[in-house]
Amino acid sequence: MFKNLMSWIEYRLPFMDKMNLHVMQYPAPKNFNFWYFFGSLAILVLVNQILTGIWLTMNYVPSAEGAFASIEYIMRDVEYGWLLRYMHSTGASAFFVVVYLHMLRGMMYGSYQKPRELLWIFGMLIFLVLMAEAFMGYLLPWGQMSFWGAQVIIGIFGTIPFIGEDLTLWIRGDYVISGATLNRFFALHVIALPLVLVILVFLHIMALHEVGSNNPDGIEIKRDNDGSVEQTDADTKFTFHQYFTRGGKKVIVDAIPFHPYYTVKDLVGVAGFLLVFAWVIFFFPEGGGFFLEPPNFEAANPLKTPEHIAPVWYFTPFYAILRAIPHPFMGAVAMFAAILALALLPWLDRGKVRSVRYRSGLHKVNLVNFCISFVALGILGVLPATPTYTLLSQLFSFTYFGFFVLLFFYSKNEATKPLPVRVT
Ligand code: HEM
Repeated sequence: MFKNLMSWIEYRLPFMDKMNLHVMQYPAPKNFNFWYFFGSLAILVLVNQILTGIWLTMNYVPSAEGAFASIEYIMRDVEYGWLLRYMHSTGASAFFVVVYLHMLRGMMYGSYQKPRELLWIFGMLIFLVLMAEAFMGYLLPWGQMSFWGAQVIIGIFGTIPFIGEDLTLWIRGDYVISGATLNRFFALHVIALPLVLVILVFLHIMALHEVGSNNPDGIEIKRDNDGSVEQTDADTKFTFHQYFTRGGKKVIVDAIPFHPYYTVKDLVGVAGFLLVFAWVIFFFPEGGGFFLEPPNFEAANPLKTPEHIAPVWYFTPFYAILRAIPHPFMGAVAMFAAILALALLPWLDRGKVRSVRYRSGLHKVNLVNFCISFVALGILGVLPATPTYTLLSQLFSFTYFGFFVLLFFYSKNEATKPLPVRVT
């Protein structure tokens, strides 16, 4: 009866068929390394955020009067409330660690290059929405840093000429950050943005499966079909639907089915991640003031500005760029340009070779320059804006943008190494 029921459903909604195509038998290049853990880890963290978020919402009070106290209530009186909250707040930081490493992998192996531009663009949209999601979530505990951090970030929009002031009024829904702001941020944080995120992740993976995964060698995997379809090296359109049959003749020789090979391999990544995640949650939940900042243990007070306002660590590279430029509006432009430059990578990089393994020494140095600049800006963004730190922020903003400018110029005629014919 069960079998009949399943085939009745399958005939009308081929769920198992789609699962086979997109998960079980998805032909993944056989040379994935640990850098490929971070896609599935990002899904894991997303699920963690949604589930812990639902349970937190059951006891959270979204009002200026009740929010701070309801968080204390969750931490002290709700059974395992502390665990739910720490899983969620540490989860936010974990999300950015995972996503930053996921993006770095894409940059190392040129995964944004043709034909994966749209996949990259969906990734960048996810990144933007994720930042908005994290920012709005941080207001909800209604602590000092929630309030004053939001003040600073909303203030950025106020620097836009002509419309700035009206725009901030529209965002806040009030003349100051108030309960009205908290309510709308709550609505956006718990339903609107998570929904958008899930849809974007779905599109991200659909776009990936249309063209197939890149790999650490950055070359297309070789297909071995029955000869009925002409195959060329330049043919990058990955029509795996037609070629991959398990056990049959038509296979892609450099690919292996996602299940069991990568489901098992990714479990190793999941185990490693959970070890670190649990260690942080149980022993280090505030992350030394980086995941939950000390002023946020005090309720929001519009009459008392904290001595030093700094956003959470994952925003600080961009925040440092904002502060490096003395003019407020130009600072905001530079900050958005820093994100836009990443989104434009598929077009700024004019190279034919994808993976850093086979690219020039100059490219390797430039990529290291990018990483150093990004981390240095991240550190500077947490420090107070003294003249020395501001000068350093200016220097590293220059090298950050320098990465993209240099890449644009040298990538056209870069001296690359010969590519292997098959993945190594
Ligand atoms: C919620 C956040 C995200 C989730 C859940 C997610 C999920 C995934 C998954 C499952 C894969 C396939 C497995 C893998 O290649 O690791 C993937 C691939 C990829 N993602 Fe993401 N992703 C996210 C954010 C991003 C962001 C922010 C970017 C960059 C802007 C990005 C760029 C890419 C690229 C380029 C690939 C293909 C990599 C390759 O084939 O070499 N993703 N993503």
